Amino acid sequence: MNKYAIVMAAGKGSRMKSLDESRSKVSYLILNKPIVRYVIDAIKPINFDKIVTIVGFGGEITKSLVAHDTEVVWQKEQKGTGHAVMMAEPLLKDLEGSTLVVCGDTPLIKTETIEKLFLKHEKDHNKMTILTSLLEHPDGYGRIVREEKTNNILAIKEDKDCNDDEKRIKEINTGIYVFDNKMLFSYLKNIKTNNAQHEYYLTDVVSVFVNDKLKVGGFILEDPEEVFGINDRFQLSYAQKVIRKRVNKALMLSGVSIEDPNSTYISIDVKIGQDTIIHPNTTIYGDKTIGTNNEIGPNTYLENVMIGSDNKIISSHLVDTTIGNNNEIGPFTRTRGGTIIENNTRVGNFVEFKNVHIHNGVKSAHLTYLGDTEVGEKTNIGCMTVTANYDGYNKSRTTIGKNTFIGSGSILVAPIEIKDNSFTAAGSTITKAVEEDDLAIARARQVNLKNGSSKIKEKARIKKEQSIK
Ligand code: UD1
Ligand code: MG
Repeated sequence: MNKYAIVMAAGKGSRMKSLDESRSKVSYLILNKPIVRYVIDAIKPINFDKIVTIVGFGGEITKSLVAHDTEVVWQKEQKGTGHAVMMAEPLLKDLEGSTLVVCGDTPLIKTETIEKLFLKHEKDHNKMTILTSLLEHPDGYGRIVREEKTNNILAIKEDKDCNDDEKRIKEINTGIYVFDNKMLFSYLKNIKTNNAQHEYYLTDVVSVFVNDKLKVGGFILEDPEEVFGINDRFQLSYAQKVIRKRVNKALMLSGVSIEDPNSTYISIDVKIGQDTIIHPNTTIYGDKTIGTNNEIGPNTYLENVMIGSDNKIISSHLVDTTIGNNNEIGPFTRTRGGTIIENNTRVGNFVEFKNVHIHNGVKSAHLTYLGDTEVGEKTNIGCMTVTANYDGYNKSRTTIGKNTFIGSGSILVAPIEIKDNSFTAAGSTITKAVEEDDLAIARARQVNLKNGSSKIKEKARIKKEQSIK
């Protein structure tokens, strides 16, 4: 059977209290991933024939997050959930199949739950199946009204429209449903706005279906946490905690050691191989793969960093970087801008690389800045090497060959090429190309003046005495 999905993500999110009026609620990040992406990534494995996201408030931002893998329709004015679904009518109304409706602000929803909801819908031959849950404190949610004798669902009553008896009902509407697609769109036209909020409630479809003897069923979700919706920043942090726990637990059960899960923040899309150890206070964001048997942390931030195996990365900040195998990085290394570190290298304290490619066996152990640079195999970059790669307007490249020795305190003024097997003397400012096997020295010669030390001190003493008089 064909399957379609509608993700409602047009609502305002005023309780986020942002100064930025153009920001949609579903674009807020949890472990560096937008809320709405959790929902879409949870439903994607179901292989929908079409996923339609309804955007509205802050819609340009929401659209940019979902347009690559869902269709997008606008709900310019937010007149309620029924109205939101109506916006998808031109794309869906004539299609045979079942349609899932979910909210874009429930990032904890699991794929298995949606699969089960579809199974129940098909097995019971329903025209609408509601995912419900039982809550001790159901305030705020729509209540599921059932017929006492048959237990059949008769209606969903919104909290604001409930009488005292209905308010006591503990079975709530999670806001997730599967519909017979054609029935949904033909009956949606019949709903009205005669309710407390003067909105088109999608939930009113229930009584309209029931009146016309179309079968409506429910599927009770055991763990209500899955449909926890985000309205404010406190709830955002709660959802983050839940996702973080899930991610860390799954990694640990797959063979990754996480010393202190409470201080470890790993994006849901990061993959990590067995026997890798993560030390405390480590954050790993993005969707890259990290291999086996690495040691990462403590106090390390990695964002979009692909890592091979057998590396040690200590107290460092690495972004948009690719790392091979068996490297030792840190403490206090910073890399960024598409840096590539191959294998068996040593990159040490207070070393910054921006858009650098270092080949196998390079050592750059302390206090260095390289930008827009390539470094050949087994080259040694001395302490305090600096590439002068920026003139205020342009970035220029530095190319350093294999087996080269860059002396401590070398300033390499780019664009510049330093060829294989060459040597730059410590303290040199290199402005001309260095050929293969050259020794480049670019510093003033040293002069030692006999007894110069006492002479200069005497001069200084006299100057001070005169200034006191
Ligand atoms: C809705 C349900 C309620 C259910 C609850 C579960 C209705 C009328 N009520 O209430 O029964 O218990 O969810 O959380 O459906 N949205 C739009 N356009 C709109 C209005 C809303 O896209 O015009 C989106 C929102 O961005 C949100 C979702 O629809 O993702 C739900 O809207 P919200 O206003 O939060 O509905 P609730 O009052 O929570
Ligand atoms: Mg809500």
